[in-house]
Amino acid sequence: APSGLVDGFGRVARDLRVSLTDRCHLRCTYCMPAQGLPWLPTEEVLTDAEVVRLVTVAVQRLGVRSVRFTGGEPLLRRGLEDVVAATAALRCPDGSVPGTSMTTNGLGLEHRATGLAAAGLRRVNVSLDTLDRGRYARLARRDRLPDVLAGLAAAREAGLHPVKVNAVLLRGVNDDEAVPLLRWALDEGYELRFIEQMPLGPTGAWDPGTMVTADEVLADLRTAVTLTPAPGRGTAPAQRWVVDGDASRTVGVIASVTRPFCGSCDRVRLTADGQVRACLFSGEETDLRALLRDGADDDALAAAWARAVLGKPAGHGIADAGFRQPARPMNAIGG
Ligand code: GTP
Ligand code: 5AD
Ligand code: SF4
Repeated sequence: APSGLVDGFGRVARDLRVSLTDRCHLRCTYCMPAQGLPWLPTEEVLTDAEVVRLVTVAVQRLGVRSVRFTGGEPLLRRGLEDVVAATAALRCPDGSVPGTSMTTNGLGLEHRATGLAAAGLRRVNVSLDTLDRGRYARLARRDRLPDVLAGLAAAREAGLHPVKVNAVLLRGVNDDEAVPLLRWALDEGYELRFIEQMPLGPTGAWDPGTMVTADEVLADLRTAVTLTPAPGRGTAPAQRWVVDGDASRTVGVIASVTRPFCGSCDRVRLTADGQVRACLFSGEETDLRALLRDGADDDALAAAWARAVLGKPAGHGIADAGFRQPARPMNAIGG
């Protein structure tokens, strides 16, 4: 049996991101076209039992130590609480409990945060790019800012700690909000991260010239606060900074484009239709669903998964000549 998810460059994937659906209630301009996308047919989406089976193989046999549920929007998955509970009940080979987390747009979290925490979810990251209701309605193409804010507060009250907020700044749209977002997040007790936009949305939505870079955001923040490096980044995509010398107040930047962290990447992805993607930008996928539905045993699933990771590319290659955006859009990969 394979001993773990090791790739050809010696990186080890211990952090599994599981997309539970490609659907979403929002239509953020940088992620999806206004009309939405052709959603996966129900029969192609893994059932709750199939998701749990694959997560179990990953945690018990492949060295995965943390599982993050993503989408589309994971709250649109009816069985989310059950899948979380089954995941939280697993044990890694050393007896430890796998980490459980979710990346969400926050809609409906107001009513589910307590139940999710009770099911064993440890943390949530909530996407929020603007504090202005009109802007939110234009950016997400749905007027739902109050629901997101209520969801965030509910997550905090439910003890899902830390609650992180993901913000993508777009030039000429919300790039004047870095400082207001930071002041708000510090007041509310959320850990804010600014994310560089990656070429994963609708074709034409990304332009290297108009992307707001991490350095620009940091320069802007420094007009209002002092930032000193926070220790202990590990393999996290976010580079974190301490605000005004108070170690309990931090802000992060995820500079995927200008300072890629592919060299220390510990991620592997499972799509809602049961395909392993070794990298966010992989050109290839490995079909675990077909194996699963053909009756493959855990050994065979683990071996196929390990082979998929072996072929992981060195990096995303966004800056390379001939770079091509992956065929699957962001909502179907899970970010
Ligand atoms: P934690 O640090 O564990 O809280 O989670 P995270 O920041 O890795 O996850 P989240 O889903 O909140 O993602 C935040 C941003 O980082 C999104 O824009 C993701 O697409 C991006 N991101 C996450 N993992 C990767 C990765 O492996 N490669 C790249 N390039 N970006 C990633
Ligand atoms: N580039 C960077 N981040 C993105 N997200 C969605 N699309 C993109 C993109 N093209 C973010 C969302 C969410 C996280 C999963 O990924 O805002 O917070
Ligand atoms: Fe927006 Fe996330 Fe939905 Fe994409 S998947 S439309 S980024 S909320």
